[in-house]
Amino acid sequence: MADETVPGGESLAALLHEQRRFEPPAAFAAQANAQPGIYEEAAADRLRFWEQQAERLEWGQRWERVLDWELPFAKWFVGGKLNVSVNCVDRHVAAGLGERVAFHWEGEPGDTRTITYADLQRMVCQAANALESLGVRAGDTVAIYMPMLPETVAAMLACARIGAPHTVVFGGFSAEALAGRIQDCDARVVITADGGYRRGAPSGLKPAVDEALQSCPNVRSVLVVRRTGQDVAWQEGRDVWWHDLVERQPTTHEAQLFDAEHPLYIMYTSGTTAKPKGILHTSGGYLTHVSATHRLVFDIKPEQDVFWTAADIGWVTGHSYIVYGPLANGTTSVMYEGTPDTPARDRWWQIVERYKVTILYTAPTTIRTFMKWGEQHLEGHDLSSLRLLGSVGEPINPEAWMWYRRHVGGERCPIVDTWWQTETGGIMISPLPGITATKPGAAMRPLPGISADVVDDQGRSVGNGQGGYLVLTEPWPGMLRGIWGDPERYRQTYWSRFPNWYFAGDGAKRDEDGDIWLLGRVDDVMNVSGHRISTTEVEHALVGHPAVAEAAVVGASDPTTGQAIVAFVTVKGEAADDPSAGAVLVGELRNHVAKEIGPIAKPRQIILTPELPKTRSGKIMRRLLRDVAEHRELGDVTTLMDPTVVNMIGEKLAQTP
Ligand code: WTA
Repeated sequence: MADETVPGGESLAALLHEQRRFEPPAAFAAQANAQPGIYEEAAADRLRFWEQQAERLEWGQRWERVLDWELPFAKWFVGGKLNVSVNCVDRHVAAGLGERVAFHWEGEPGDTRTITYADLQRMVCQAANALESLGVRAGDTVAIYMPMLPETVAAMLACARIGAPHTVVFGGFSAEALAGRIQDCDARVVITADGGYRRGAPSGLKPAVDEALQSCPNVRSVLVVRRTGQDVAWQEGRDVWWHDLVERQPTTHEAQLFDAEHPLYIMYTSGTTAKPKGILHTSGGYLTHVSATHRLVFDIKPEQDVFWTAADIGWVTGHSYIVYGPLANGTTSVMYEGTPDTPARDRWWQIVERYKVTILYTAPTTIRTFMKWGEQHLEGHDLSSLRLLGSVGEPINPEAWMWYRRHVGGERCPIVDTWWQTETGGIMISPLPGITATKPGAAMRPLPGISADVVDDQGRSVGNGQGGYLVLTEPWPGMLRGIWGDPERYRQTYWSRFPNWYFAGDGAKRDEDGDIWLLGRVDDVMNVSGHRISTTEVEHALVGHPAVAEAAVVGASDPTTGQAIVAFVTVKGEAADDPSAGAVLVGELRNHVAKEIGPIAKPRQIILTPELPKTRSGKIMRRLLRDVAEHRELGDVTTLMDPTVVNMIGEKLAQTP
């Protein structure tokens, strides 16, 4: 790979010369859950290692075999039976921990709730009874479109309890996107809220559900939590309030056992085509993976720790490290509904101080935002409870890593940079905080029980100091079991680039010590503020607008969001030549994308241009457009049909705000 730039502006060459090392503090290392030797132990017998992790859960029936592997289809803990919600809630209550706090919940306006494990058990049982009363049976899918509320967790666990796979759709997605997901997995019941609080104001969710359901005739019930008290349209016979139905249910519910491979949830994520993929996760292996990694990577001591994953439940990070991993481990977590600058830019630090958070897990984009706002917002807050920090979602640049360490971690907290994906279910590559001497910006090594490699085009393992593609070379318990309804796409997407390995879609480099640095996506997927968005999906939305002839979308590096969406558009008619019509159209197109996909997919810039750079065979040269968008020297333009086009586009870009 040529010298590239990673978010934050550092170049790869600079990364490889990173000399700083941070040893785990001795006191931390001495008490850590993961002790030296764990790597060797797992390497000696990988399946036995995972079996030991599975033994930490409560099974109604033990498995017969740890793994059945018929590439690319895996079954873990074959023949085993368990109930995921019992593992996350009931067993802790049965062990006498009912009064332990599961969630310190804080709403954006400042309202708070304390949910103990006993409270959560009652909520989950009531919700499970309610879903059954709506006719939901094992195997039926349920869509959840919610703000960050305790009810959101209860809804997910209630689904798990009755064996109904949930699909949680992030509240920032549009009605259109919600409808597509409901249709794809054929959900018949939707759980939502009137709205949630964002940036100091109520923000509606129910209207988007109403709009989505116009194209989802199979949905028969909508269960609505009252959160904001906003006026909502109501369809009698279909819509039912949570407080009317759920809160009247019995607070006990007998849970059935389900097979280890019973579907737990579907999470839609962007791929390289316009249609998002429904990533399927199942029960026993997934819960084993997320609880084990939560315990080892975050060094969880459930009696003492207050854990905060500051992410939305609508993403996989929320599923694995707000809900399933922490609850399986009996952890006390913080859950916060809103944005970090409401009402002021020290909101997070107030929360850390108030609940004495010990472990904070967030994304580099947020850290860079805090850097931009300045460290004065942290000053005056007592952050001394923190003992460990985590990062996820995109490569963390050394500058942000050092800032995180210094200003949030007070130079004393180890940082774990955790690489994983929706597809992997849980963390795959990360330091272990009591063992690893960390390097600012490196995810370091595959976890015990995980096998990964960096390979070249031909699938040859690269040496130290070399870059290539990240692959996972052995199945792992939390791995996706497929793409909902599309086994062929599963094979094609992940298992065809290299015949025997999982292709992650990320570039990576091994440094001189053999440690792994992640470099970002190598496919058409952008990473904007830690959210995966496909270039094709945005292009598809743009060309759906009547004024657009053609669109090419690239992810350009951005100092705060990692990547930003830049769209090059050729338009029909006059708009291209008339600057005032052009400006109006650009505004319209940005809103159009927000409507089709969601506000997170709004391009930072839309450049109207009479032509796009194409090869002689008519392929749009996105690589060149990325160079243009990042104001880089252009690479090889000789294969272009008309090399003058790029210069013209560059000039257009310079004129575009
Ligand atoms: C990127 C989020 C570098 C990567 C859990 C991956 C990372 C995609 C890291 C998955 C990290 C995630 N360092 N890159 N620590 N963590 N990524 O599915 O490109 O939303 O393929 O899962 O985010 O994003 P997803």
